[in-house]
Amino acid sequence: MKIDGKTRICGLIGNPVEHTLSPMIHNTLAGILGHNLVYVPFCVEEGKAAEAVAGAEALHILGLNVTVPYKSEVMAALEEIDPLAQAIGAVNTLVGTEGGFKGYNTDMEGLYRAMTGEGIRIEGEQIILLGAGGAARAVAYLCAVKGAAKVYMLNRTLEKAQAVAQEVNGAAGREVIVPMETKAYADLPDGQYLAIQGTSVGLWPHTEDTVVAEENFYKKIHTGFDLIYSPWETKFMRLVKAHGGQAYNGLKMLLYQGIIAYELWNDVQVSEKDAKAVYEKLCGHFRRQE
Ligand code: ATR
Repeated sequence: MKIDGKTRICGLIGNPVEHTLSPMIHNTLAGILGHNLVYVPFCVEEGKAAEAVAGAEALHILGLNVTVPYKSEVMAALEEIDPLAQAIGAVNTLVGTEGGFKGYNTDMEGLYRAMTGEGIRIEGEQIILLGAGGAARAVAYLCAVKGAAKVYMLNRTLEKAQAVAQEVNGAAGREVIVPMETKAYADLPDGQYLAIQGTSVGLWPHTEDTVVAEENFYKKIHTGFDLIYSPWETKFMRLVKAHGGQAYNGLKMLLYQGIIAYELWNDVQVSEKDAKAVYEKLCGHFRRQE
């Protein structure tokens, strides 16, 4: 890697940031594409997200990713916000513009690109969405925007799912999100569903946990997509497969949220061949861990 007077900087703000895979994604892309760019993690202390953005602006940082816990907090410090990110209420990518940073949510576009790449459709589909937290709420928006027929939002706490459904249905102008208590899953209309796992249940090291333990639930699922990628295969994914479904982890979502951010920062299109090369590198990281 050559660093000189023309090197442009991108980075990640969050806390913690030590375990991020984003530098691997962006520095690999910069290497492949021959861009004079480096990507580094910045750990930002509580209450300092706006200061970090102002500092980045002053330093002409090309772009930033934003992670937990600043995805919503940072929005007040931005010059402009993309409509999807505004609707979701969270940004994960900041792009330098003349007046300041513009915020985007490439997490959801990344999920969409990952699903499309696997041949998974949202348009016209009957979907089960597990969870009603920040991540699941964003997925609910994505499904509504991309034309899902119905999204049954199953959550342990019904009130939270009801609040998200009311908000998303209001924005979408149709009753697309149907809130349900998770344990009432037997009330789902007959049929086969795409299921998106949007909670943190099953995340390493709690690899034997899953939101729904009953085997009968998994008979309803033709495809399961878990937003988690550590462990490589969650209990949710194993149960979907055990009942004949296809299952995917969230690593390609991570990959494509990064690729879309890189495309925004550099005004380029990353080819599928290059995306695959970065994906192989991420997979190698996981293989080394196992
Ligand atoms: P995130 O930002 O990752 O979405 P969050 O906003 O804290 O995190 O939301 C966590 C989600 O996981 C919620 O849907 C939560 O259910 P509740 O709304 O009932 O709290 C769900 N969740 C967390 N732990 C759970 C558990 N042990 N069993 C079932 N659902 C759980």
